[in-house]
Amino acid sequence: MNTIEEKEIVFNEHDLIVSMTDRKGKITYANDIFCKIAGYSHEELIGKPHSIVRHSDMPRVVFKLLWDTVLGGKPISAFVKNRTKEGNYYWVKAYVAPIISNGEIIRIISYRRPISSFVKQEISKLYKVLSEHEKSNSLDETFEFMLHFLKERNLSYEQFIDRLALNRSISSPDALNIDVDSYYIDHMIFKTNILRSIALGKKDIKVTESCCCNFGKKLKSLEDMPFTLHPSWRKVHHYHNHVHSLMGDYVERAAKSATKDELNGILLEVEKDTLKLFSALRDVIDNYVEERSL
Ligand SMILES: Cc1cc2nc3c(=O)[nH]c(=O)nc-3n(C[C@H](O)[C@H](O)[C@H](O)COP(=O)(O)O)c2cc1C
Repeated sequence: MNTIEEKEIVFNEHDLIVSMTDRKGKITYANDIFCKIAGYSHEELIGKPHSIVRHSDMPRVVFKLLWDTVLGGKPISAFVKNRTKEGNYYWVKAYVAPIISNGEIIRIISYRRPISSFVKQEISKLYKVLSEHEKSNSLDETFEFMLHFLKERNLSYEQFIDRLALNRSISSPDALNIDVDSYYIDHMIFKTNILRSIALGKKDIKVTESCCCNFGKKLKSLEDMPFTLHPSWRKVHHYHNHVHSLMGDYVERAAKSATKDELNGILLEVEKDTLKLFSALRDVIDNYVEERSL
């Protein structure tokens, strides 16, 4: 239970908490620092399940991932909030790894170090969301939810841990990393250049090839991102296709344009169409971020 008196125990940068368990999670070894920080004697820890230091703020799904990975023969890192004997808490970055002998997991070892206040703050937000999700969903569903959270940010679990450990934020969905304005400018420069070149009489411009611009590629790469389920995403595609399908027409008119004003008129039309495309994109991202913000 969370109590008001609960205090954070901050441990030293140079301290290393070490423990070992059997393959069921029963503690077989605890170093002095573990005993000191958790507030238990060796005797009180040895033979006990490791959940002895479990804090109620920890989502179950984190331990599911930990156990699935370790019993699958692989190591894993995780940020864990633990409870001391006195009812206080301490945060760690735990590295947990199986010790394998003759193909069998004989022991599981864990090393833990302190984490920065930035990480504590960020991971607490996520764990709160996961714990809330667990209240009305099965463990497997929350596991899916967590994978979804990572996918939105285009991060594997390992990348997510590394990124946080480097004090870089994970709260922004990948959608936020799309620099809409720079794509807009790219688009405009690209089209303006083509149309100007054509107006100046350069006939060897391969419009279809050139129009395969970066933004088109970006759109494709985003196709399985959750925000593409947003109804406005169809608009983005619609305007993108529209802008490109009009290119032939623009090119033809630019080639025939006799004056600078005529060309500028065409460029203005292009700009208007391109703006529609990028405001639809901005719409999708803004709505999405609003709905999904942690
Ligand atoms: C080597 C090792 C170290 C562990 N360290 C911790 C730990 O520091 N804190 C914790 O809550 N669980 C730790 N666990 C996970 C626990 O075994 C357990 O799965 C977790 O506390 C959830 O307990 P519960 O399923 O009874 O809720 C560790 C497991 C292993 C194998």
